Amino acid sequence: LKILLVNGPNLNMLGRREPHKYGTQTLNEIVDALTEYAEAQQVSLSHIQSNSEAQLIEAIHAQYEQCDAIIINPAAFTHTSIALRDALLSVDIPFYEVHITNVYAREPFRHKSYFSDVAEGVICGLGALGYRAAFDAALAQLRKQNN
Ligand code: DQA
Repeated sequence: LKILLVNGPNLNMLGRREPHKYGTQTLNEIVDALTEYAEAQQVSLSHIQSNSEAQLIEAIHAQYEQCDAIIINPAAFTHTSIALRDALLSVDIPFYEVHITNVYAREPFRHKSYFSDVAEGVICGLGALGYRAAFDAALAQLRKQNN
């Protein structure tokens, strides 16, 4: 099984970015830990982080045929990007939306997501643990389907 992890703009700044909200772990630390966790369960995890909407869309187009599920933190594109939503719909791979913070406890412009109504599941406010929770949920679902 293969899972694609997609991280949107400014998430490369994790660790130094508003650490009181986003925590002190860097993206590399989060991704390395999740990759190890995945490997222990015979899942291969591939990762892209980009600050560019086009690059995120193109990565999804390029990799969807090799992947069984997508875990995505669209970051600020959550609230703006119909194009990224359409990219996910066009490949028809189940995806899980993750936010480190509880977006509903923040500014009103963060309450609208272009992804949540078409996601398999949505996780927010659990910190970096949300990625692992999404991974567990995706894997449980895939294993159920393949049995
Ligand atoms: C975020 C929440 C978004 O509103 C914000 O723009 C981000 C990160 C989160 O993980 O909590 O960049 O997706």
